[in-house]
This record gives sequence, structure tokens and C-alpha cells, in this order.
Amino acid sequence: MNAYIAGVGHHVPDKVLTNTDLEKMVDTSDEWIRTRSGIIERRVSEPDIPTSDLAILAAQRALKSAKISPKDLQMIIVATATPDMFFPSTACLVQAKLGARKIMSFDIGAGCSGWLYALSVAEGFIKKGYDNILVIGAEELTKITDYTDRSTCILLGDAAGAAILKRTDEDRGILSTYFAADGSYGDLLYMPAGGTRMPPSHESIDNKMHYLKMQGNEVFKVAVRAMYESAHEVLKKAHLKPGDVAFLIPHQANIRIIEATAKRLHIPMDRVGINLDRYGNTSAASIPISLDEAVQSGKIKKGDIICLVAFGAGFTWGGVLLRW
Ligand code: ACO
Repeated sequence: MNAYIAGVGHHVPDKVLTNTDLEKMVDTSDEWIRTRSGIIERRVSEPDIPTSDLAILAAQRALKSAKISPKDLQMIIVATATPDMFFPSTACLVQAKLGARKIMSFDIGAGCSGWLYALSVAEGFIKKGYDNILVIGAEELTKITDYTDRSTCILLGDAAGAAILKRTDEDRGILSTYFAADGSYGDLLYMPAGGTRMPPSHESIDNKMHYLKMQGNEVFKVAVRAMYESAHEVLKKAHLKPGDVAFLIPHQANIRIIEATAKRLHIPMDRVGINLDRYGNTSAASIPISLDEAVQSGKIKKGDIICLVAFGAGFTWGGVLLRW
């Protein structure tokens, strides 16, 4: 029994924040942002629109593309680092808003690797006999962004992507997975307050502790190594080589991380999914968005080998290899 992706969908908010807009907010330049990160613009959700609303729109498109209804779903998993609230989980909010049956629904927190982690958990349930699992990556990072910190505010955007995972007897779908985490790097990319370590207080707000903090250059070094390792491991497990990969979809944090990963794998950039130029870093949403764009534009065809790799807060990293 294999698990394959039967439908994909994504949604981004309408509001665009360009590099030129950011030039008016912090000491930066369009040229610096483009050359250091590859980002030109990103999307920002409205203040009264929570993450679950983006998730719903992406989910509805994925359901349509898989030609199933919310009533057919047997499980909902939402990967997010920016849930509507601590509890209930964003997945439960999505279950109710979608009108799904009373099915198992839960969130996964693995930073930017979250959607791949969720896909692999869903695959485990498919192998146990489940079918029609909705796997969403949804984020509103702009709501935890400090727009006075030029080193992070230029990077982040809001978006959601979703896929429907189904059972099949055919030789297609997920071929191999590989995952890892190293919590000793936790303080290089984190949000200090709001949890039990530093509950919300006047002081935590005054000290801007409810925003994402990142030591970008330290994260960068580990990211390149981890993304390559993830691709290498999933290919090795499936007895395939980088030359077999028709399309590489990496997490969208920085074009230089993506280029370095593709170069080490000898995969040309025209076979690599890119959306960070338009959407910035959308964390758990970046890979399903890229997958949907590649399917819609005909860059992915039936039978193609697709390699998905991610790296994020935790640190977490990993990969999923698919036959489309
Ligand atoms: N505009 C102009 N100058 C800037 C800006 C800016 N927006 N931001 C930083 N600088 C300056 C710094 O102050 C520094 O100046 P100094 O040399 O005078 O001290 C200089 O530029 C270089 O700073 P670095 O941080 O070393 O720049 P770097 O080339 O590393 O690029 C970046 C920064 C884009 C953040 C990069 O490090 C990066 O992409 N890191 C990885 C991010 C990542 O992978 N995150 C994981 C996933 S994210 C998630 O999970 C939500």
C-alpha cells in the first residue's frame, strides 16, 4: 500500500509588501534584499484574518483538485508555527469550518519542515489503512515579525498550501522519507515569549519578546548542509541518484541556500521550484505552494521523481521522495 498526493492547492493573501515598501520602514535596500535573499515581495494577511482562514482556502482547492468532498476526509493535519491560538489546534478549527466529519485533527510544530513532517505522519496512517488525509502547511509569520528588525522582517510572508494524501496499490507516491532534529540549535531561531518559559507580561511585550528572533548567518550554515543531507538520504533509501530527480522542491528561506543545495546535487535551477521571490519565506506553506505551482504549470508529469527537502526552527530537517 502506497501513499500518493491526489490533489494540491494553495492560497496567498492579496496584500503585497515589496522591498521598496520595506526601504521606507527599516534601513535596507531592494538591492540588498534581492542579492542576499532572492526575495522581491511577500504577502501579508489582514489583521482580522487568522491562519485557519488561509488554511481553509488552500484546503478547498486541494479537495477540488483531488475531486473529493470534506466529508470524504479521514484526518486533518496542520503544520504551523503560527496557529490561531495555543488551543484548540488550528486543525480542529479547520475541521469545523470545512464541515468535515468528526475525524482525528491535530497540529504539528516543526518550523519550516512542518509540512514534510506532517506528510510523513500522514503516510504512516495511510499504511495503517486510512485514506483521504488532508495535510496543510499554513502560516502568518508577519504577525510574529518585528518590523523594526531589518535582519528578519525582510524575509517573512503569509500563505497556506495543502495536499490530499490517498492510498494506492500502484507503484507511485511516497518512495522514501528521512527526518532529523537537533534541539541544541533552538535558540538560533525562536520566539522567546508567550509560552510557559516566558508567559506574556508587560515586560515581555516592551522587550519585543513575542517576535521571531533569528541569527540568520548561523542558521544559514546548518541549512545548506541539512538540505543536502535530506536529499542524499531519501535518494539513497530509494536506490536512486540526483540525476533521476525530475524536480527539486526545497523550502524557500534564501535563494543562496537553494542554489547551494541544487549545485551540490548537480540539479540545474530550471528543475528547482522557486516562489520566495514572490512570497518570501512562508515556512511550512512554502513546499506545498511550490508543488501546486509546478503541477499547474506542467513542470511535474506523471511518473516523475520529485524530491522535497526542508529545514527549519528546532532545528528540524528532512526530505520526502515521490514518484508523481
Ligand atoms: N538590509 C541591509 N543590511 C542588512 C540587512 C538588511 N535587511 N539585514 C542584515 N544586514 C546587515 C547586517 O547588519 C550585517 O552588517 P555588518 O556586517 O555591518 O554587521 C550584514 O548585513 C551581513 O549580515 P548577515 O546576517 O551576515 O547577512 P547574511 O548574508 O547571512 O544574510 C540572511 C542574512 C538573509 C538572514 C541569511 O543569513 C539567511 O537567509 N539565513 C537563513 C535563514 C533560514 O534558513 N532560516 C530557516 C528557516 S526560517 C523559519 O523556520 C521561520
